[in-house]
Amino acid sequence: MTNEEFKDRVAVVTGAGQGLGREIATELSRRGARVVIAELSPVTGKDAEAAIRAAGGQARAFVTDVTDERSIKDLAQNVETEWGPIAFLVNNAGLGQNVCETTDLSLDEWHKVLEVNVTGCFLCCREIAARMRSRESGSIVNIASINGQNPAALVAAYNVAKAGVISLTRTMALELAPYGIRVNAVNPGPIYTDFNRKVMAQRSEILGIGEDQMIEKIRQAIPLARWGRAADIANGVCFLLSERAAWITGEVLNVSGGLGGVSAAPPKRKSTGAAR
Ligand SMILES: NC(=O)c1ccc[n+]([C@@H]2O[C@H](COP(=O)([O-])OP(=O)(O)OC[C@H]3O[C@@H](n4cnc5c(N)ncnc54)[C@H](O)[C@@H]3O)[C@@H](O)[C@H]2O)c1
Repeated sequence: MTNEEFKDRVAVVTGAGQGLGREIATELSRRGARVVIAELSPVTGKDAEAAIRAAGGQARAFVTDVTDERSIKDLAQNVETEWGPIAFLVNNAGLGQNVCETTDLSLDEWHKVLEVNVTGCFLCCREIAARMRSRESGSIVNIASINGQNPAALVAAYNVAKAGVISLTRTMALELAPYGIRVNAVNPGPIYTDFNRKVMAQRSEILGIGEDQMIEKIRQAIPLARWGRAADIANGVCFLLSERAAWITGEVLNVSGGLGGVSAAPPKRKSTGAAR
């Protein structure tokens, strides 16, 4: 079932094969958009495309690596040739970090996490915003995290990457405002996707508690007393993309049940030597 809000507007959602991106793409489709699933995994990308089409929507999966300039240029070119101007861009593709103290964090992991989360966002914004600017039309939402504003312990690279996404959002909002293009960010709170499943398993092990206890501990820290749903994030994104947010740019919307951040400070380690 669709409504007309985004009728036939072309929306690119990165990392939309699963998790939050998939729900964002599905919700955009329900509101009438033609959605492009720009996803690294050909399997989940095709699956998301099929599910949206089966529900009566218009969707097209493009195998895309957001860290690869060529891949993004091809994506933008192919989409606009096939479907016309891109109206909306949602930079959602992201990668969690293996939970560890910063003193143990490898340079490879640091680079990998920054590359996907912040360089990927930059490359997609750069390519697609330039096209939007030439038409003086378009709206962008970047998916950051509450960690980008209030860092949690043991995920330094991820915190820094998401702080970078917030800064990039504000910078581009200023630069694109003269052309009427809005750039905003959503900071999701905890949603139990594949991404968070891995983080919860690692954090519970470090704290020496069960995974269920860990999940409950997080729930209790959330003022609205429940974990988020992917639909909560999709609704926030659709609002910022829409005309209802026509006078909002450079903003960062927490969609987190009132949670501003988790410190997640670990217990003192038994050995203080270098472990890398
Ligand atoms: N789940 C949460 O609790 C939570 C909280 C805050 C922020 N976020 C952010 O929300 C976004 C989505 O997270 P999720 O929980 O759905 O994660 P997820 O791991 O379930 O999905 C991430 C998607 O991004 C894709 N991807 C990874 N690298 C890519 C690349 N180089 N090019 C293209 N696609 C790539 C993956 O294949 C996957 O489909 C991420 O940016 C994440 O940091 C999630």
